Amino acid sequence: MSTVRTLKLSSPEETHALGVRLGKLLQPGDFVGLIGDLGAGKTHLVRGVAEGAEVPRSEVASPTFAIVYPYSGRIPLYHADLYRLANYDDLYSTGFLDLVEGRDGAVLVEWLDRIPEAAPREHLRLTLKHAGGEVRELSAEAFGARPAALLAAWMP
Ligand SMILES: Nc1ncnc2c1ncn2[C@@H]1O[C@H](COP(=O)(O)OP(=O)(O)OP(=O)(O)O)[C@@H](O)[C@H]1O
Ligand SMILES: [Mg+2]
Repeated sequence: MSTVRTLKLSSPEETHALGVRLGKLLQPGDFVGLIGDLGAGKTHLVRGVAEGAEVPRSEVASPTFAIVYPYSGRIPLYHADLYRLANYDDLYSTGFLDLVEGRDGAVLVEWLDRIPEAAPREHLRLTLKHAGGEVRELSAEAFGARPAALLAAWMP
């Protein structure tokens, strides 16, 4: 079983729908890292995930001022953005590491490539690339057994 999937997303709606499907599958302890340029669609995908995880729409923000936003859905969802962090040490002060270790919810992290060590050993890594106009190319890579099972269920 391959642990990598690639997919073409032709519109924001398609990206959203894919996120919704992931949100229905997430369990506490799951960690999803998102990588991609400005405007690649990371936050857009997370909004879909939040909807799929039954988070009230009003709760969902774009993590601009805080590093981590907690959402309460079917399970707790933590939406983080590492864009403004410089290094691993910054993660201590934000409480991010406690949150990942606690495993009471699922964690979604934009700009994981800024601090790759922020990810636990087992995680799902999603990379979004601009592919002209509204087209995005998504590459999903699973590290570990649970992420591989999650990926297989998400993109059979
Ligand atoms: N296929 C697509 N999938 C997702 N978003 C798309 C797509 N086509 C166009 N867009 C648009 O691209 C923008 C993506 O913005 P979004 O905030 O999700 O990006 P981001 O990767 O989170 O960027 P940032 O690094 O600035 O946080 C939105 O305005 C969205 O409508
Ligand atoms: Mg974003």
